[in-house]
Amino acid sequence: MTELFDYLRLGVNIDHVATIRNARGGYHPDPLRAAHVASKAGADGITAHLREDRRHMTDIDISRLIADIDLSLNLEMAATDEMLQIALKHCPHAACIVPEKREERTTEGGLDATGGYDQLAPIVAALVEKGIRVSLFIEADGRQLDAAKSLGAPVIELHTGAYCDKFGAERDDELQRIREAATYAAEIGLECHAGHGLGFDTVAPIAEIPQVVELNIGHFLVGEAIFGGLESSIKRMRSLMDNARADISDRRSA
Ligand code: PXP
Repeated sequence: MTELFDYLRLGVNIDHVATIRNARGGYHPDPLRAAHVASKAGADGITAHLREDRRHMTDIDISRLIADIDLSLNLEMAATDEMLQIALKHCPHAACIVPEKREERTTEGGLDATGGYDQLAPIVAALVEKGIRVSLFIEADGRQLDAAKSLGAPVIELHTGAYCDKFGAERDDELQRIREAATYAAEIGLECHAGHGLGFDTVAPIAEIPQVVELNIGHFLVGEAIFGGLESSIKRMRSLMDNARADISDRRSA
């Protein structure tokens, strides 16, 4: 039987608190305050993506988060020398390497860990050597998982964007790909995370995948906060995740 990790961690991505702040400049709303609210609401970690163009998070935001939050920080970063130096300077708990294009609205697909092997290898090695938990944000594809494993990354995060964007049978197919990739990740000894695009309607089937131990969720939570507040949106997500996890435990012990 597949090993079941009962508790599913929630990393709250606060990039879009900074997006709203940056629309006007100034200091409001403050991502650090959002991180404190996330902690109170039951988040297990904070995720922040420092992009090359600094369109949401800034260098000062990262310094303030490192200095002030009581949760671990997962720094999302492109595989560039600039970002490597920043990660090594701050030494966050975790770094998630993502593909990045200036012209994209969001991280559109997974990293090409096979084609980008030579570029990624020294960056993964330097982060691992510094004691930073490295994950690679990849598509649910066996070749990408194999490449992540041979690069020495202990963690992969599966891109759930296509699953969230599709409907009906196409969404089911994406879910099945994610399930199979999560199973394979566990078989080859990779810790499996997932994220991108998840909302209240899409989170449960992903939370029910027993090998997935962490979800990173941002845009939907910040958007939903407009209607009911950030604490409430995170608490509801947390409880949907916990319920999905409890359901699989119940099914297993029945
Ligand atoms: N995981 C990774 C690696 C991401 O790049 C992002 C988006 O920054 C997320 C999770 C969160 O995605 P969303 O904001 O759509 O919930």
